[in-house]
Amino acid sequence: MDTKVYHHDEIKEAAKIIKQGGLISFPTETVYGLGADATNTEAVKKVYLAKGRPSDNPLIVHVNSKEMVEEYVDSIPDKALQLMKTFWPGPLTLIFNLAQDNNLSTSVTANLNTAAFRMPNSLVTLELIRQSGTPLVGPSANTSGKPSPTTAIHVLNDLSGKIEGILDDGECEVGIESTVLDMSNPNMPTILRPGAITKEEIEQVIGEIAIDTHLIDEHNAPKSPGMKYKHYSPDTPVVMIDSELDNWEEAVEYYQQLNKTVAILSNKEIVSRLGDYSVFAHYILSDKKEVKSAMHHLFGGLRALDTELVGYNGVILAEGYPEVSQNMGYMNRLKKAANQTFFRK
Ligand code: TXA
Ligand code: MG
Repeated sequence: MDTKVYHHDEIKEAAKIIKQGGLISFPTETVYGLGADATNTEAVKKVYLAKGRPSDNPLIVHVNSKEMVEEYVDSIPDKALQLMKTFWPGPLTLIFNLAQDNNLSTSVTANLNTAAFRMPNSLVTLELIRQSGTPLVGPSANTSGKPSPTTAIHVLNDLSGKIEGILDDGECEVGIESTVLDMSNPNMPTILRPGAITKEEIEQVIGEIAIDTHLIDEHNAPKSPGMKYKHYSPDTPVVMIDSELDNWEEAVEYYQQLNKTVAILSNKEIVSRLGDYSVFAHYILSDKKEVKSAMHHLFGGLRALDTELVGYNGVILAEGYPEVSQNMGYMNRLKKAANQTFFRK
């Protein structure tokens, strides 16, 4: 199959493919999604197949309005209405109890009686949903286990020949996937996956919320099925540099002595600081330590360095951030990419 790249003036053609049960990757402010009609089981099954995704991992349903959510749930709790008003369209996914007789494909929900909904902040994708006349499932448009795609090129690298098309609208602004908040028990809203919208920002709107214990103690089992899988991993091993230890020089020397080809994923000041160490490659996350920029560049950086290191016995040293609330999304993704490994000596 030829994967066609569509632009903003070709949404009609992309919508036609969705209506026919095909797969179109769509842009969002977080990462590119892999879109299919969420009410069409055959189409949804193709999404799992194209990604190589385990079928017990439910998908997010992308909508273009609150009304579209109301078609599938019994009622939207007040607190959730407030959150939608504040953060939608935007990088916040909300999990609700489904109505008894809803027509979402059971493959979307992996047979749970809840489903995750999100209204992405992308005009072309909101228009794609409108013209398709149906909500779209949208896992990140990467091969399962790889870093999520933040450009159409990343999507092509993983899924070319496996999907009908990509709606290209440039680079994703945020760079990591949405914050997932479980609202199925409105008395105890719980963050299942950290993202750009922080716990504090949500609490400013609806008061105290919880956070899934596995995000604090990695040995606990996550509540969100998807969080248990290996994720975001390039082929090259990734090792994090603890922001407090700041032991970049030691780490570079250590791996160079082991005859490893060292690549650096960090802010620009670190790259300058390591100027004398003939490091093989670097990718700049930000000018100085700044988490928004680091989040934006993280997945693209992992992909780029991984490509440069093909054929080498390489290691990627990546910049850690202090584990405070606003850095949780970034550190959650990086720790998975690094298999939880910090450089310690
Ligand atoms: O930013 C995003 O959320 C992106 C863009 C494309 O919108 N999408 C995305 O989808 O990250 P995906 O499928 O890669 O991640 C969905 C996460 C998974 O961890 C999944 O297990 C969880 O949400 N999830 C989905 N439905 C759920 C449910 N009913 N209960 C608990 N967790 C759920
Ligand atoms: Mg994903």
